[in-house]
Amino acid sequence: MTGLLHSQAVLVIGRGSGIARAATLTARDAGAKVIVADRDKHALAAAYLGEPAICTETVDLTDDDSIRALGERLGQVDHVVVTASAPARGRLQQLERSAMRLSFDTEVIGPLLMARHLAPRMNEAGSFVLFSGVAAVKIAVGALGVAITNGAVDVLTRSLALELAPVRVNAISPGVVDTGARDVVADDAEAGYSAERSARNPVRRIGTAGDVADAVLFAMTSTFLTGQTLHIDGGEPLT
Ligand SMILES: NC(=O)c1ccc[n+]([C@@H]2O[C@H](COP(=O)([O-])OP(=O)(O)OC[C@H]3O[C@@H](n4cnc5c(N)ncnc54)[C@H](OP(=O)(O)O)[C@@H]3O)[C@@H](O)[C@H]2O)c1
Repeated sequence: MTGLLHSQAVLVIGRGSGIARAATLTARDAGAKVIVADRDKHALAAAYLGEPAICTETVDLTDDDSIRALGERLGQVDHVVVTASAPARGRLQQLERSAMRLSFDTEVIGPLLMARHLAPRMNEAGSFVLFSGVAAVKIAVGALGVAITNGAVDVLTRSLALELAPVRVNAISPGVVDTGARDVVADDAEAGYSAERSARNPVRRIGTAGDVADAVLFAMTSTFLTGQTLHIDGGEPLT
């Protein structure tokens, strides 16, 4: 994979661990200069201490001014990867308007405004990679808020692919991935969930952040791919 992103600037929105970190290191290993941003720049800087090809920045995806200012500070970027989420978990009776708003604000409206402010700074060979999730295709009680947020990301991806063309726009839809966040269950503490999910998945394991990072790299570098949601889920919706 070395060199696929040689001299390109990749912006990754997300934390210093989990999927965002795996995507960052994979892009770096492919030759990119990576800028990582989330709400806590100091925590990010600590997470990437000693990594010269990785810079850290600040952005709050619920704040239009913050997104605009990030675009102005960055100047030109080649690829933008948005992993941020604020999942609204729970059954219907537990779903408050504020949690639903935050979920859409972070995972749908924030990326939409990122596209608005950053696409004009990208060259035609650039791309966006958004994040959806398996909840949109494997409907389950307790995952309603996550499912409709992810479904909106899938539609946003196809819409932006047309509106921003020839800049490409794709999404990644992970299944259950071992990063500490699980979008498909209401009760994250459920004992044995990972083991049970591993046994049921056709590939007989849950995902790793590396599985997802490989797909992010594929989305960034596949120049005939746009408007697609890549399902990196071990066949989970089939079970
Ligand atoms: N892990 C899974 O099993 C799984 C399954 C399906 C889909 N996904 C999706 O894959 C993506 C990455 O998942 P993950 O588990 O690695 O990460 P995660 O734990 O869901 O991390 C979410 C990130 O979003 C950031 N964030 C939240 N609100 C923000 C805001 N207003 N502005 C900027 N950043 C904000 C968080 O920042 P703070 O650090 O400041 O809180 C955190 O860095 C997410 O979109 C998730 O929904 C994950």
